[in-house]
Amino acid sequence: MLTFQLPTREDTLSVGRTLGSLLEAGDVIALIGDLGAGKTTLTQAIAAGMGIQDPVTSPTFTLVQEYGDDFPLFHFDPYRLESPEDMCDFGFSEYFEQGGVVVIEWADKIQALLPDDHLALTLIDPDIAGATEDADEAPGEEIEVSESGIRYLRIDAGGERSAQLLDRLAEIPAVQALQIPPESMPARPMPAARPAISPPLKRRPGATRSPIVNE
Ligand SMILES: Nc1ncnc2c1ncn2[C@@H]1O[C@H](COP(=O)(O)OP(=O)(O)O)[C@@H](O)[C@H]1O
Ligand SMILES: [Mg+2]
Repeated sequence: MLTFQLPTREDTLSVGRTLGSLLEAGDVIALIGDLGAGKTTLTQAIAAGMGIQDPVTSPTFTLVQEYGDDFPLFHFDPYRLESPEDMCDFGFSEYFEQGGVVVIEWADKIQALLPDDHLALTLIDPDIAGATEDADEAPGEEIEVSESGIRYLRIDAGGERSAQLLDRLAEIPAVQALQIPPESMPARPMPAARPAISPPLKRRPGATRSPIVNE
């Protein structure tokens, strides 16, 4: 497991681009996080890191969008999926053997369908926790997010290949600079814990910064 803080959008892009540059055919990346946490931003950066030039958007009403040619990215967004069975009917597992990379937003919705050996990226924004509960927005629509809140990222490996990826990622200085100790990570707050009216935003007590980070 690796844990990061992502103070700016550029930091999310930096981790995504670096990860994208390490990916190989058959790699599966699961993105987990509330609406506005940064899943599509990460996907865009992963695509850029893979050398894909096309602009990556949110596949709002399509389940999957394909980018690139020789080394494609299959970008899944099961946000509006009624049940995981629909994903099976869609032939989801066949995408793992198409010579490309599979990135899935809202991957926790289809957890049981993921291969064991996948890399899980959990994005946490303490200020927008629970946004999935009351937001009508479609993924990809602009939603209001706090400027002051720091985002966090946890990456877990589920098998040999993803563990290897994680090790290689941890060796890259730009990524190392964003790492924080696991105990500094806030938990992903539960929707029920969200107050009806948000209090003024302030640094969370647990949100300590790593001494190795330059600001
Ligand atoms: N680390 C970050 N810090 C601040 N803003 C960010 C960060 N990462 C992404 N954003 C911004 O948050 C907004 C929502 O991101 P997006 O990737 O669309 O979220 P999701 O796909 O999870 O709903 C975008 O405006 C994006 O630029
Ligand atoms: Mg999105």
